[in-house]
Formats: sequence, C-alpha cells, structure tokens
Amino acid sequence: MKFFIDTANLDQIKEAQDLGILDGVTTNPSLMAKEGIKGDANVKQHYIDICNVVDGDVSAEVISTDFDGIIKEGEALAALHDQIVVKVPMIKDGVKAIKYFSQKGIRTNCTLIFSAGQALLAAKAGATYISPFLGRLDDISTDGLNLIAEIRTIFDNYLFETEILAASIRHPMHIIECASIGADVMTGPLSAITALLNHPLTDIGLEKFLADHKKNQ
Ligand code: E4P
Repeated sequence: MKFFIDTANLDQIKEAQDLGILDGVTTNPSLMAKEGIKGDANVKQHYIDICNVVDGDVSAEVISTDFDGIIKEGEALAALHDQIVVKVPMIKDGVKAIKYFSQKGIRTNCTLIFSAGQALLAAKAGATYISPFLGRLDDISTDGLNLIAEIRTIFDNYLFETEILAASIRHPMHIIECASIGADVMTGPLSAITALLNHPLTDIGLEKFLADHKKNQ
C-alpha cells in the first residue's frame, strides 16, 4: 500500500519523507488555508516546494466547479511539475473534466467520494485515483470501511486501473484496516502514520535489552 501524507505543511512532509516511507502528498483548499498560503502565485509556488521535498505524486485541487474553469485550472496545475496530480471534485462537470484530462494524459484524483456509484463513474471517466473519505463517513455513523471494500470488489470485477486512495484517515487502525481490505493508497496525517511505530512491548523489550547490555560492560 502506498503511503501519502495529507497536509500542506512542509515540515511534516519532510519528516515523513525522512522516515523513508512516503509515496506522495495530498492537499486540499482547507489544508492550504491552514498553512496560510494565499494568492494564486503563492499557492502554485507552494505546490512546487512540496514536489521538491517528496518523491511521488502531489495532489493539487482545483477551485472551479464548471467544466471550462476546471480544465483551465487543472492544465495550469499539471504544468507546474510532473509530480502534480489534478484533484477534481465529484460533480458532473468534474467527471467530464476527468475524462478530458485522461485523454490528454493528465493524471487526476477524484475527491469527495462518498458512494460506490461515484467511485464507479470516476473510474469509468479514467481517474488515476478516487478518494473515498473514510473518516467523514465514520463521523456521521456510516461505515467508511464498508465503502472501501465495496469499491475494491467493483474495481477488481472489471479490472479498473484507477487506484483506491483511502482518504480522511483519522488514526492508525484506519490504516491497518484499509491495508487489510486492499486499498491501493492511504492518505492521512503525520500523527496517524507515526502512531504505527508504537507498541509498549517494543519499549519494554528495548529497555531490557539495553539494561542487560549495560550489565556486561
Ligand atoms: C483527501 O485528499 C482529503 O484532503 C482529506 O483526506 C480530508 O480529510 P479530513 O476529513 O480529515 O478533512
């Protein structure tokens, strides 16, 4: 499973990259705003800065919601760097734009997926990735993992090449469960990724090994 980090924070991206496990980055307008990145030129420069830190795909989201606007914005984003994947919302004009981009060889990530039907449409349009939002479904008492499993079955039935990018990951168990189901990619915060490092028996075991080693010195 590929590991993406879901942030626009360069320090966190560097930390995950240094760990040696990072395959890409996802951003969205909320995450860019959280970092205080404002204005078209600054936003574009920030995407380039992210691409220069990570070895892998960097999702950059369009703001437009009409076909022409999505195409114009998406082409400009894709031209910034060859690691850029254009993130397009799951709306009618978004699906049309995904088809257009796929014919032009521009890679896409269809975002805000909350049903198997939406995932199927985006895959048929030729999306590179689809992003089902696991945590936001869990937040409204709906089983997000079920959705990932349903999409996995559909994509396997028809050998769709579109990758399932499990998004809105909130904690380490989400990552483990998505890996068990067979999500191709997960994107989550640094805290969920680094939480995978921890186990109390590892800490106790290491402490004992080091203490025993010290006795023999
Ligand atoms: C995905 O690409 C989104 O940026 C993200 O995972 C949304 O997560 P949230 O529900 O924690 O905002």
